[in-house]
Amino acid sequence: MSKKVIDLLNGARSRELTAISQYMSQHYELEDSDFGKLASKFKEVAIAEMKHAEKLADRILFLKGEPTSKPDGAAKQGQQIPEMLTTNIGLEAQAIKMYNEAAMVCASEKDQISKKVFEELLKEEEGHLDYFENIKDHVDKLGASYLVTLTG
Ligand SMILES: [Fe+2]
Ligand SMILES: [Fe+2]
Repeated sequence: MSKKVIDLLNGARSRELTAISQYMSQHYELEDSDFGKLASKFKEVAIAEMKHAEKLADRILFLKGEPTSKPDGAAKQGQQIPEMLTTNIGLEAQAIKMYNEAAMVCASEKDQISKKVFEELLKEEEGHLDYFENIKDHVDKLGASYLVTLTG
C-alpha cells in the first residue's frame, strides 16, 4: 500500500484534531459568555470532526499505518465571535483544499477507497464552511441584534 496515501490520511487526521480542539475550546468560551445556542452548534461541528478523525484512523489502520495523535496547529484562545468565525472559515477552507488534492493523489495511486473517504469528508467540510460563512455574514450585516439571537 502507498505510503503517500497513508501520509495524506495522517495529514488530514492532524488537521481534524486541530479543528476539534479549536471548536471545543470555542464551545467552552461561548458557554461561559452565555452564547449557548452558538456554543452547542460549535460542539456539534466538533463532534462531526471527531467522526472524521476516527474514519481516517480506521482507514490508516486498514492500510497498516499508524494513526497520528498530533494536531497540526494550536487552538486560538480568547477570540471574539467574528474572529472565531474567521478562524473556522480558514480551517474549513484549508481542509477543503487539502482533501481535494488528496483525493486526486489517491486516484493516481489507484486507491479508490481512500479517495472516497476524502470525498465523504469534503462534502461535510463544505457544509461546515457554508454554515460558518452564513453566520459570519449575519454578524457582519446585523451585528449586535443578530448576536442576541445566539444567546441562551
Ligand atoms: Fe472534518
Ligand atoms: Fe469541518
